[in-house]
Amino acid sequence: MKDYEVKCIRCGARFPKDDIVYTCRNCGGLLDIKYDYSKLDLERIVKAKGEGVWKYRALLPFGDEIKPIAINEGNTPLYRCDRLAQAIGIADLWVKHEGLNPSGSFKDRGMTVGVTKGVDLGVKGVACASTGNTSASLAIFAAKARLPCYVLLPMGKVALGKVAQAIMHGAKVFSLKGNFDDALRVVRLLCEEESIYLLNSVNPYRLEGQKTIAFEVAEKLGWAVPDRVILPVGNAGNISAIFKGFSELKTLGIINAIPRMTGIQAAGAKPIVNAFKENKEEITPEDNPETIASAIRIGNPVNAAKALHAMRSSGGVAESVTDEEITEAQLLLARLEGIGVEPASAASIAGLKKLVEMGEIERDERTVCVTTGHLLKDPERVIQICEPPIEVEADVEVLRKMVRRGR
Ligand code: F0G
Repeated sequence: MKDYEVKCIRCGARFPKDDIVYTCRNCGGLLDIKYDYSKLDLERIVKAKGEGVWKYRALLPFGDEIKPIAINEGNTPLYRCDRLAQAIGIADLWVKHEGLNPSGSFKDRGMTVGVTKGVDLGVKGVACASTGNTSASLAIFAAKARLPCYVLLPMGKVALGKVAQAIMHGAKVFSLKGNFDDALRVVRLLCEEESIYLLNSVNPYRLEGQKTIAFEVAEKLGWAVPDRVILPVGNAGNISAIFKGFSELKTLGIINAIPRMTGIQAAGAKPIVNAFKENKEEITPEDNPETIASAIRIGNPVNAAKALHAMRSSGGVAESVTDEEITEAQLLLARLEGIGVEPASAASIAGLKKLVEMGEIERDERTVCVTTGHLLKDPERVIQICEPPIEVEADVEVLRKMVRRGR
């Protein structure tokens, strides 16, 4: 078994590897998985063969004996986006399209690790609260692991594609009368009392899987780092995980800098942006978060402390974008680069555009935007913002006229 410990980021308390614990029992702080980096084999990390999350097994909290619950997660493309870069006015832009994971979002990276840990712990079931993607992903991995899966979705607030996935893969789906923050509060209590394993991003094993986004970006760039990484922020797990990934590579001497971690929230749900700008250590939760980017409609992000640390210590920034800016970016990315993403993901592009216009991002910074979820997750939004299909008779002359008129 690999040497690591589960440690509170606030008070430093340590917990055994086989303890089912999500936050510190002493002080309530967030937990982190800490390795003994001096014992890790650098060659094994840099020269690892294979693809995806488990390729980086040397930096995951498992020994070689563990058989992962896996469905080819990770190994997503890093596209160079020159047309979009030109439209925004920067020189060197890349998009890491996490929407091309098996379930259509980055959550699969966290779930393969989290559910594998759950199986190892011998849990009787798994559960999460979700704005949609977490539930879709957990349902798949639970099905693979043959574990009962319980998901709590805020009623009427989850995009259609995501609900479809969760029910199709056999999760027990509850439509909760409340918002995401209410759902998370309730599911945390449920998981305290039952032997059901909580797989929201407060579970530190989830973030271990998600940190592999950083490893893939660095490796694709020849074990180098971009100047900046931009991503949407909801419950704030992913930005914390990616920062951790880069930090580990730096600790190991594989890279020599950490990108400026830049988090984007929607204007109607931006407690982290507020805390960042007001120089506060703690967020003030928002009671009624609202945005068309339903994936990040979150008022009380559980990983705020980790995310604020990631942005501040890397010289990054937090910014918010309006729903109109998100929609504009979603269309731009789809039509200039052929990359289809859901609204929350487009927040990263909208944030980049805004920060370039503000002069906060230099035009020559090598920038990676992480697009977190696939376009088909939220088909209803597409119908709202695009021209609908045009009805036409089955007559080529009529069609020809219409095509000519449209040219
Ligand atoms: N983008 C997408 C598409 C998401 O689904 C989420 C989170 C985020 C960004 C934000 O990531 O929470 O790590 O800051 N979705 C969660 C869910 C909350 O339940 O699917 P984060």
